[in-house]
Amino acid sequence: MTPRRWAVTQERDHGQTPATQGSRIDAYVDRYAARATGMVASEIRALFAVASRPEVVSLAGGMPYVTALPLDMVGELVSDLVTTRGTVALQYGSGQGDPHLREQICEVMRLEGIEAGANDVVVTVGSQQALDLITRIFIDPGDVVLAEGPSYVGALGTFSAYQAKVVHVAMDDQGIVPESLAQTIYALETAGAPIKFLYTIPTFQNPAGVTLNLARRQQVLDICQRAGILIIEDNPYGLLGFDGEPMRALRADNPDGVVYLGSFSKTLAPGFRVGWALAPHAIRDKLILAMESAVLSHSVFTQLAVGQFLATQPWREQIKSFKELYRERRDSMIDSLEALMPPEVTWTRPAGGFFVWATLPEGLDSKAILPRAVAERVAFVPGTGFFSDGSGARHMRLSYCYPEPDRIREGVRRLSGVIEQEMQLRDMFGTGSGPERIGVDTPGPELA
Ligand SMILES: Cc1ncc(COP(=O)(O)O)c(C=O)c1O
Repeated sequence: MTPRRWAVTQERDHGQTPATQGSRIDAYVDRYAARATGMVASEIRALFAVASRPEVVSLAGGMPYVTALPLDMVGELVSDLVTTRGTVALQYGSGQGDPHLREQICEVMRLEGIEAGANDVVVTVGSQQALDLITRIFIDPGDVVLAEGPSYVGALGTFSAYQAKVVHVAMDDQGIVPESLAQTIYALETAGAPIKFLYTIPTFQNPAGVTLNLARRQQVLDICQRAGILIIEDNPYGLLGFDGEPMRALRADNPDGVVYLGSFSKTLAPGFRVGWALAPHAIRDKLILAMESAVLSHSVFTQLAVGQFLATQPWREQIKSFKELYRERRDSMIDSLEALMPPEVTWTRPAGGFFVWATLPEGLDSKAILPRAVAERVAFVPGTGFFSDGSGARHMRLSYCYPEPDRIREGVRRLSGVIEQEMQLRDMFGTGSGPERIGVDTPGPELA
């Protein structure tokens, strides 16, 4: 018997509250399922608690600017919902989601060229839950998931929780590189590694801000179809493009080979927690069962609130006003980077969404720089959080969705100063970067 067990037994024998309660000692440390070892809080979380102070300009958070919503109107809508349809709104619902909302979701997806019926849609608790359910129904420990490198930190956390092995596929400023995708698939197949799906965020990617171009979209579809690999297309930012019409979704051109994940978190508000999965019927059926086992049914209340918003409010206008707001902030970010950053630093130029991906000069490590940046009252997310293999140290994600344009400029000014100092230190003492840590860093929802 281990000393730890002995301690627990003693406490129970005396019928007392365990001495470990509220402390950092975990009496059940040897009882967790193996998959729980993949669930680790990021070591940078504590730092972000400081970064949320008002004097710090946070270029870290991925939070939509909900202040721009007409909150009075949302308040009225929610109150009306309770008085007029409260007995339905406050009741359990179906595992697949409210039928009328599913129809409305199909109308939203039509903007990206998707033709689908309400019956093909499963409403989920944000698209994050759709990711969880998809992973749950497809992944056995050790199965391979392909994902862009870098990729969305929340998805990497989910894959890690289900003990998937994430293999990153190279991407550049035009999105995932098809040749790299084909080579990676070939190498894995030759090695006998079971690839379960490709997880991709083709439009205004989180964290890189880049978009898969049209020619590559077709190539990615072809490569995956030939190899029999399912594509999970995660598209929360697709309607937040700053120029022209929305890109055509991958799902629009291959209904059987793509599961599409959508969300109202960025086009309306994340607090409703309404997202969805659009899937071929066999997968949809499994998703519904997995959904029911996870939460019985999604909140009917928030589904009806979103449905009511779509039915009674000019939601296209709302998206347009979000786009204008984020475009102005993107411009402020890019202009400030151009004006203030040392010339050795490079960055992507997003045409939509929330994020810029910056690359530091050789020898600089973004995670090592973060404490100094926070001391200088600016925060970002270090690049390592977006890879599952410990790479990304020379990168950082800068988000422009939340701070006002002049705060963005001030944040970039502070950050430039920190990077310049780091470069000087590097020139004097050589590289200061520490050892790479393999694993998935999950910095928390407000930073996702
Ligand atoms: C790429 C991506 N996918 C999924 C999500 C999850 O969003 P939600 O669960 O709020 O729909 C996010 C949130 O930031 C995201 O950036």
